Formats: sequence, C-alpha cells, structure tokens
Amino acid sequence: MNTTSPQARALSGIGVKIAGTGMYVPPGVITNGDLEALMDTSDEWIVQRTGISKRHRALPGQSLRHLAVEAGRAALGDAGLSIQDVDLLILATVGAETTCPATACRVVDDLGGGNAGALDLVAACSGFVYSMNLAHNMIRCGSMKRVLVIGAEHLTQFCEYTTRGRGTAILFGDAAAGAVFEACSDPSRGILAQAMHSDGSGWKDLYLPYQERDFPEDAEDRDMIGVLHMNGRAVFKFAVKTFCDLIDDTLKKASIPADDVDMFVCHQSNVRILDAARERFGIPAEKLYVNIERYGNTSAASVPICLDELRKAGRVRDGQKVMFVAFGGGLTWASSLWQL
Ligand code: UT7
Repeated sequence: MNTTSPQARALSGIGVKIAGTGMYVPPGVITNGDLEALMDTSDEWIVQRTGISKRHRALPGQSLRHLAVEAGRAALGDAGLSIQDVDLLILATVGAETTCPATACRVVDDLGGGNAGALDLVAACSGFVYSMNLAHNMIRCGSMKRVLVIGAEHLTQFCEYTTRGRGTAILFGDAAAGAVFEACSDPSRGILAQAMHSDGSGWKDLYLPYQERDFPEDAEDRDMIGVLHMNGRAVFKFAVKTFCDLIDDTLKKASIPADDVDMFVCHQSNVRILDAARERFGIPAEKLYVNIERYGNTSAASVPICLDELRKAGRVRDGQKVMFVAFGGGLTWASSLWQL
C-alpha cells in the first residue's frame, strides 16, 4: 500500500488534477434477449446474478484502436487540449492490437501525432486504476505535466456466443473511456492513498489463451483459443473479499472514515459484488455509482466510463474526495483515493 503523505505533497509543491474526461461506447447492442436466442440462459438469470441488461459491441471493422481514439478525442476535447499538449499516453487494455508496436503509439498518431510517450498497460480490469496511479505519480514528481490515460476494451471478440461460452458472454461488453491528468499549483490536490497489487497464483481463474501452450495443464475446452476463460465462482469470492479489504486499507492509509468519501467509483463486474461493499461500509446507494445494467463488464473501460458520466452529471467535482477501486485478471487489484 502506498500513500502520498501530506509532507511529500507539500515538498513536491505539485498538485494533480483531472483536466478532462471522455468516453466512447460503440453503437452495436447485445441485449439479454439476444443472448437467450443464442445460448441456454435467460434475462431473469442474468439480471438476478449480475445486474446486467445489455452490453455494447463494436461494429464490424471497428477495432480496439478505433474505440480508444474516440475516447481519447473526447477526453482531450473536454480538457480543451490536443494530443500535442500531452507528455504521455497510457492505454490500459487486455486487447492490444499488436504487442509490437504498442497500440498506444498508433492511438497517438491517430489523434493527431506528435511525440508523446506511449505504452500499453495490461492489468485487466484493474488497468485504468493502475494507470491513473502511475500518471499521478509521474506528474507529482515533476517529470510530466500532462498524461492521457485511456481504458479501452474490445472484449466481445474474445467471447463465444454459445452455451459453453455463456460464463463470459453474458458479462462482457466493448467500450473505451479516458481522462487527462494535469499538474496544478495546489499540492493538496491529487492522490491521498493508493494501492496496486497482484497474485499470479490465481492466473487460471481468468485468462485469455492465444495458443495451445497458454492453457493450464488441467484445462478443458482446449479448442477455445482466443476465448476468455473464467472461473466465475472463484473470481466472485476473491472479488468480494478483496474489494472490501482494499477499501478498508485505503481509508486507513488516508486516515479518513468511509463517510468522508464523496463518491466510490468502482469497477463494474457484478452488482452483487458492489452491493456487498456498500453494505459492509454502510455506503448510501447514491455514493457508490452503478451503471453495469447498461454496459456490462467493460474491464479497463468501466472505471473511466463511471468517472465521465459522474463528472458530466456534476456528481463528481473539484473539492471532493473520490475513491477508485478495481480488481481483475492476474489476479490484480488496485485503489486510488483522490482529493479532487
Ligand atoms: O471483471 C472481473 C472479472 N469477473 C468477475 O468479476 C465475475 C465474477 N463472477 C461472477 O460475476 C459470477 O460468478 C457469474 C455471474 C459469472 C456467475 O454467477 P454465479 O452466481 O457464480 O453462478 P454459478 O457459476 O455458481 O452457477 C449457478 C448455476 C449453475 O447451475 P446449477 O449447477 O446450479 O444447476 C450454472 O450452470 O447457474 C448456471 N449458469 C447459468 N444459467 C443461466 C451459469 N451461467 C449461466 C447463465 N445462464 N449464463
């Protein structure tokens, strides 16, 4: 667990603010009714077990890069900036189009070019929160002035829309969203406490095999190459415990009670996981945002989509304390508590 102590913040003299946010959701839609026609499932089961009613799907020809570029353009526009004003782009995704080059390099080019640093970051559903911590820390220490972070996923390409793929097909959707982080002169603004963790012993609970050797030895469904494999029950158990422990640790490090947090912006993986965290800390419903019914689980895009919707609705604004929390494949988990 890392914190940014008041002393460290004062010493650096640099604060960090969110200068703009934006999102892009592709026009294709997969409803629970559509899934009923493709596999053995039901709208009732999906809504009860997950809270999801629909998810979006990229159009044929729309790649991960297209989604990321649209979200990046929206975030830069909201900040009144162009890509040439940015020192670094971090693209959080599990679906980089290529590993060489990093997809982020081509996103910078598509956004108008220039010479911003660019890298892809893989931390599955924790990717945006990992990236916002890194962006903040680089700005706080003075090595960067502005960092654009985009979380983008094209997960429907990794789902199988038949009964044997239903464990993941009902959950995942395509989307992208981003935020511009910028240095400011008020050192009290920025992260109060943050965390980034992993436990690789749990890798088999959520993985994406690209070739035969990527499967665990005891795997069934070895023909399902390029399809997300998930042990839903194991991830669920891990998530409920980790979510609560992480919120608890982050509050303790910042020495504030849950009541002092104005908004919890959490990875949207399953409404039951969010409800468990809300109940444990007595968080009122209006302080823990839920939009999973409209987008499903969009992995690294889910936290910045929530952030953008909340900012645009005026529910997240300067002066507030906001906690970001995510967990996912790796296994990974991360938090970021901000004084905006
Ligand atoms: O983003 C981070 C990564 N992912 C997650 O956070 C996901 C975490 N896990 C989950 O959200 C849940 O485990 C799922 C939604 C994936 C599954 O819900 P569950 O309550 O854990 O269901 P289950 O796997 O324990 O299955 C319960 C029953 C089984 O039937 P029996 O054995 O009780 O007769 C399944 O065969 O539901 C059946 N089932 C389904 N039925 C209709 C499993 N999937 C489906 C389905 N439609 N899609």
